[in-house]
Amino acid sequence: MSHLIRTDDFSTAEIEALLEDAERFSQGGFHRILQDRIIITLFFENSTRTKSSFEIAAKRLGAEIVHLDVARSSTKKGETLVDTAMNLDAMGPHAIIVRHQNAGVPQILSEHTRASIINAGDGAHAHPTQALLDLFTIRRHFGGDVKGKRIAIVGDIKNSRVANSNIELLRRFGMEVILVAPPQFMPQTRLETTYNIRDIIDNVDIIMSLRTQTERHSAQTYASLKDYASDFCITQELVGDRDLIILHPGPVHRNIDIDDALLADPRCKVLEQVANGVSVRMAVLKKLIHDV
Ligand code: NCD
Repeated sequence: MSHLIRTDDFSTAEIEALLEDAERFSQGGFHRILQDRIIITLFFENSTRTKSSFEIAAKRLGAEIVHLDVARSSTKKGETLVDTAMNLDAMGPHAIIVRHQNAGVPQILSEHTRASIINAGDGAHAHPTQALLDLFTIRRHFGGDVKGKRIAIVGDIKNSRVANSNIELLRRFGMEVILVAPPQFMPQTRLETTYNIRDIIDNVDIIMSLRTQTERHSAQTYASLKDYASDFCITQELVGDRDLIILHPGPVHRNIDIDDALLADPRCKVLEQVANGVSVRMAVLKKLIHDV
């Protein structure tokens, strides 16, 4: 049984094939190839985009999707997570899509179920479908060839599963990653780093802004988000007329991560990322529960 827990669960050749499928799906090829398949979602953390994106992807392919209401489930009555997973698995779903605040939960579930486990984000560890849709969006913009393209990842990198998954995936596809963050948000790394975006802005093709992960901070790390914004908000004034694109996984803190003017600028690809997310997740579902 294959799972998608981290981006490196898929080889580069597998990802190439997956992105080709996503391209086909984005052009409207919606075959009901998953008509007799059942998919369960298990979201222990809030989500707007990811959960509905998976749901739309599953429905476009004809699958049935069942949302487990975690707040009312038996884990609230003291059942362990593994028992919950084994009970769900006994009902014979083909895939379980899981999001959890703790890193490692999807991996543990994959050891106790026959269904494919798809990680929709675990703690600060990984968010593989987000990285895949980001790579898809970047490749589309640059006409396929991303080797040597330089991307600045800006913000709360240390606490970001989106950053972790993107660093692995984008480097594997030949991109150079520069980390831009204040010291308290900078992970230990061998990558190029800077505390000041102005140092590198003339030399990047893409800026990926991240949300400050306040829910993962044990102590307040900035006097206020406004103080953070004065150094790290990506503004139209900062970007000027440079030839680069802006990405963000959402949810965006307006005027803290990216300013209003730039969010409305055609170089900002946030809504394209959301649209591409559906096609990429269709390709992931196809790969894991149809092509096996
Ligand atoms: C991200 C997440 O939940 O990891 N959002 C998403 O899935 N699009 C990023 C975030 O919460 O900041």
